[in-house]
Amino acid sequence: MFRREFALMPRLVLDVATGDRDRAGVIGDHIAGITSFLHTHHVLEDDNVWPLLLDRCGESVASLMELMEAQHHQLAELIPQVDAAVSAWRDSPTAASRQALADVLDRLAPVLKEHLDTEEGLVVPLMEQRITAAEWTGFLKGESGSVDPDYAPLLLGMMMYEGDPESVEQVIATTSADTSPAIKELAASAFAAHSQRVHGTATPPRSTEL
Ligand SMILES: [Fe+2]
Repeated sequence: MFRREFALMPRLVLDVATGDRDRAGVIGDHIAGITSFLHTHHVLEDDNVWPLLLDRCGESVASLMELMEAQHHQLAELIPQVDAAVSAWRDSPTAASRQALADVLDRLAPVLKEHLDTEEGLVVPLMEQRITAAEWTGFLKGESGSVDPDYAPLLLGMMMYEGDPESVEQVIATTSADTSPAIKELAASAFAAHSQRVHGTATPPRSTEL
């Protein structure tokens, strides 16, 4: 979801007409919501995952964990710049503020892509070996606990759109007392309505198509 949504953001911003406050508000909310979740996700990884892997795997993973922290740090410096550019643009949706936001999003995208590629390629396999299901469940609970409940169905829908079904079931089982099919329907319709409003289609391009 991060790959897809961040890749689509610069074009979304550039397509908003100068002076169109309503549309800048819609796109600004979209960007702020996802950026805030990215930050939440990273803080939880920093606090929970890297220390555990370092403890279990020792020195052999020290440089990889340092790389994860450094990449998160780079992103943590860019995220407030995105926030500031979003609010400047919303306050005054000029061509200059629009371009400034698109530029910072363009700077963030390759950093995020490199981080996700490294994390999925090198760190997730270690997590699968060294972190137990119970620990992982605790991690997911911590993450969902810091998400606004009103935003949770949309977030789940964003994950479900491309997430593998097994992981989606795990997220639902961990984060919600309600594991009935209705929760997935709610999430899918929240995502479809949001994507229609933001992307102009209920089925935006998938990350593999971008
Ligand atoms: Fe990460």
